[in-house]
This record gives sequence, C-alpha cells and structure tokens, in this order.
Amino acid sequence: MCGIVGYVGTRRVVPILLEGLRRLEYRGYDSAGLVYYFEGKLERYRAKGKLANLETVVDDYIGTASSTGIGHTRWATHGAPTELNAHPHTDCSGELVVVHNGIIENYHSLRTELTAKGHIFASETDTEVLAHLIEDCLDGDLVAAVREALARVDGSYAIGVLWAKEPEMLVAARNHSPLVMGVGENACYIASDIPALLPYTRDVIFLDDMEMAVLKKGEYEILQVEDGTALEKPISTIDWNAGMAEKAGFKHFMLKEIFEQPQAILNTVSGRIVPETGIVELPEVGLDDQAIKKIERIALVACGTSWHAALVAKYWIEKWVGIPVEVDIASEFRYRHLLVDDRVLTISISQSGETADTLAGIRRAGAKGSRILTICNVVGSTMTREADGIIYTHAGPEIGVASTKAFTSQLAALFLLTLYLGQVRETMDAAIRKEYGSALISMCGLIEEELPRLQGEIRTLIEKYYDARDFLFVGRGVNFPIALEGALKLKEISYIHAEGYAAGELKHGPIALIDKDMPVLALVPKDDVYQKTVSNVEEIKARQGRLVLIGTAGDEHLSSLTEDVLYLPEVLPDLNPLLYTIPAQLLSYEIANRRGCDVDQPRNLAKSVTVE
Ligand code: G6P
Repeated sequence: MCGIVGYVGTRRVVPILLEGLRRLEYRGYDSAGLVYYFEGKLERYRAKGKLANLETVVDDYIGTASSTGIGHTRWATHGAPTELNAHPHTDCSGELVVVHNGIIENYHSLRTELTAKGHIFASETDTEVLAHLIEDCLDGDLVAAVREALARVDGSYAIGVLWAKEPEMLVAARNHSPLVMGVGENACYIASDIPALLPYTRDVIFLDDMEMAVLKKGEYEILQVEDGTALEKPISTIDWNAGMAEKAGFKHFMLKEIFEQPQAILNTVSGRIVPETGIVELPEVGLDDQAIKKIERIALVACGTSWHAALVAKYWIEKWVGIPVEVDIASEFRYRHLLVDDRVLTISISQSGETADTLAGIRRAGAKGSRILTICNVVGSTMTREADGIIYTHAGPEIGVASTKAFTSQLAALFLLTLYLGQVRETMDAAIRKEYGSALISMCGLIEEELPRLQGEIRTLIEKYYDARDFLFVGRGVNFPIALEGALKLKEISYIHAEGYAAGELKHGPIALIDKDMPVLALVPKDDVYQKTVSNVEEIKARQGRLVLIGTAGDEHLSSLTEDVLYLPEVLPDLNPLLYTIPAQLLSYEIANRRGCDVDQPRNLAKSVTVE
C-alpha cells in the first residue's frame, strides 16, 4: 500500500525515481509524485491517477542534473485521491518534504496542535502532519528533528525525508511498514519493495521497526529511532534479477505469472523432496522432530488468496497428519479471543510477508508462546524476520495485483509441509508419501502442457459469459477453497459480482439466485465426492442455471449436462487444487481482458496491504 522510492548518488535522479515507481505501482495507483533537489531548491511534481500522468508532467525534467530525490505512488487512506493529497508533502516553508507509507493514527490531535502554532496545512492527509511536525522540531539537525517528531507519532510509517538545506542527504525510517535500503556504487536507495531496486543493485539492507537510515552518496548510517544508537546491519544479496519484474512480451503481468506457474511450483519443490525415496527435507521449518511430534494443533493465518491456500491445507494436514487445523482470516485472528499456546504451531501464509493483519496475528500468537512458521515468497520480508521457521516459495516477484503463481506455489509448499509432518510423525505410509511426492513434482510438467490448450478453449468459452452480471463458483472438499479463489479472482479483476460456495451449501440460500441468467462454474473432478457434486450440478441444471463444468478427461457425463466443459487430466485427487486453479485463473483473466478492465491494477486494490 503506497510505494516509496528514494535515491542519493551521482546519476540523474528523475529516471531512477520514475523507474522505481513504475516497479512499485502495484502497491497503489491513485496518484503519484516526486521531488528532487536542484539548484538550492526542492522541485516537486504531482499528478492524480496513474503514474503515466506524472510521467507526462515531469517529461521535460528527465534530464535534469539532479541526483537526490524521492518519489511516491499512493493508495489513499486519509483524503481523496487528488493532486493536492498526493505525496510528497511539504512543510510551511516548502524546504522540507516527506513521502510516507502507513497511517499516522494520532494525526488529528497533532494537526490541531500544529495549526494552533501557526502551521498551514494544504492537504487532508495524515502524512502532511509529519512534514510540519519535523519542521517544528527542526533546529539545524534534520536527523534529530526526524527522531524527535517520530517519538510523538502513533501508527505505522515508512518515510523518506529531504531538506533543501542538506541537499545530499536522505533520511528514512520505518515502523510497521516495509522499507528496504539498496547499496550501490556511490549511491544509496530506499524503496518499499525490492523490485524497485533490481535495475540498480541487488545488495540490500532490510530496516526493522523503529530503525532509521541516513543516506548520502555511497555512505549510510543506520540508527535506532528511539535513542539514536548506531546499528550494524548485514547486507543481503537478492537472487532476483530486474527482468523477472518485467512483462516479457505478455500483455499483462497476471498472464505472465499464470504461465510462470510450472516454474514457480518447481522452484518451491526443488531440492526439498527426493523423488526416488519420497523423503522430504525441510530443515527450514525450524522445529526438530521432537517438537513436531508434540504439536497438538495448527493455526493457519492469512488474508485474501493466501487464506484460500490455508483452507486447502486444512484438508491435507488433517487427513494425512491427523493434527487438528484451524484456519483464520488474519484480521479476525488478531482480535478474537485466542486459545493459542506453546502446544500450537501457528503458520502464516503470505506472498509479500508484509500484510499488516497477518503480521499482527503472528505477533499475537508468538506472544502467547506459539511457535511461528511462515510460508512466504519475499526473502527478507518482515514476516520472515519475525518467524521461528520459514518455507520460502521461491515463486519470483509477483507484480499483478491478483495473486496467481504465489497461490499455487503456496499450495505446493503446504503440500510439502503435509508430507514432511506425515513423515516425522509417521502418520503417512512411506509408499504413499513417495507416490504423492512424485505426483507433486510432475504437476509442473502437467500444468505446462495444459496451459496453452486451456487458454485457447477459455478464450472461446468466455464469449458467452464475459458480460454476465453475477457468477457462482462451487466445489466440494479440497476444491471448495478453489471455488472461493475462482470467485475472488473474477470479482477483483473484472468487477463481476462473484461468490464461491461449497456445493452442498447451495440449497441453504444461493440456489434461490439460480435462473437462466446465472452462470455457475462447478469443479467436478472424479474424486470421492464426485457423485455428490454431480447431484448439485443436476439441481442447478434443473433450475436452468448456465453451467460451466471443469472435470476429469473422459467424463462424458459432464458433456451431457452442458456444452461448456473444460477437461483436465486425472491426477491424485488431493492435488486437484493445484490443477483446477489454472482454468479458474484463466477464465477470470480472459473475461477481464475481454471487458477491457485494467487487469494488473484493478480499482481500489493494492497488492501489499500494509495497513489494517
Ligand atoms: C491483497 C492482494 C491479494 C493477496 C492478499 C494477501 O489483498 O491483492 O492478492 O492475496 O493481499 O497478501 P499476502 O502478501 O499476505 O499474501
């Protein structure tokens, strides 16, 4: 939510800021702005709407010989998405500017206090309070003023601050919002997320909460916000490259990421399972065998698409490991009466590792004595630094707001974890584990083979459905969460109202919606609940619902129910969620694309939700 980028070095700053913002635009895109230092002054440019609007405004300044600046792409929290509310915000003098990601919770009282002192506010944002507060504390020493101001602030922030009187210095700080520093030759960078840094450096330092950085050309200092103590922090080298965050000829990031799934799953599984023996190696879970044997319950905590992965994992873990699993939406988990202690293993699932509610959830569980394992895609993210164990998904950067490859690689990681727990607790027969392990590995090739055919069939199919007003998705058992995920994908990128239901639940309400205008997508693989799901499909047909079925190749009964059937190869039923997700993603993508929607940046959404 909101992306910030900053640079101090020797190169021209405007192209660096624009490229950084382009790579962070998935975090928010209702307005954008940047500021750079030039000839004794800070030059500020802002524009409402997408980054392209800002690019038009600053086009003439691309070549300006400035090498210090900060930029921002916004997802509005306080104040409408207008140019006036776009960052950077300035103090009264216009000599001090701030970009901010997060929420200043006590901004109202601070604003009242500062207004009484004579400060004039130009926007409705919480962020502007920071600029005036720092100005109020400023007495020749910017670092001291930022520290003093932050001591008075409640809430979350990642900030970048520039002051015209210290032209080659950028001050940054973080608390509960992500911020990473890049270290280059004669240059230092800040960014909300790694993709912004990749064209310039892969050497990064992750700032932790209540830490600040003072950046100059090729030198930096990291301090505690509270008492100014200097800190030594390790430099990590990121193994992603700049090209991984490009579209590579695809029309949208989402489509590219759908097609990257075979590789993403392979990366998640590689080196963690020995195909010949079925032995799973996951030392990174951070629990020895004794500790694993003592687990009495598992709590899975996540948001959005990651929550759907958690729902699938409940079926797997309870079936193969026999440990009771609770699945919570993190925003509920963090505030409900938690019965969690050291007998419970809490597992967070998150693509970004920065989702505010999920982070708060694991902090609460950790404080109650629970061990924390995180399944995460972003190396070095806050969640991974706070967890006791980490299973990285290694899916590569995911830029499309609608999560695709992160989801299927989370499923792969969760299935691996299931096999591992079953192996250590001896609840899963070694031969079965080996069979499932090999089947998991072969999913990569299978999905790769199926993708082009499915895309072709779905492109034709959606001509009948792209202008629907509503859509229902239904499935049973391990595929019920895939129905939820299919509905979420469709609604978020095409704005068609869509709901996912357990097929058996239709009769308890949603069946009332079914008539000749209601499309219903049903997941009907040949599994142990096949007959039950087929009965539900018959009920939909009897009420003239427009059926789209996804089922097992060779199942001719499905073709007798509707002409719109997508067939998938038969795999071990537990692995169907990995396979059945693919047509659901493609259907959503093709419908949204056909409707001319902004697939990668749907309205009101942001990829990384770092505020609650
Ligand atoms: C946002 C994104 C979703 C994502 C969810 C959780 O809503 O748009 O795609 O599933 O956050 O994010 P996380 O990074 O924790 O998986």
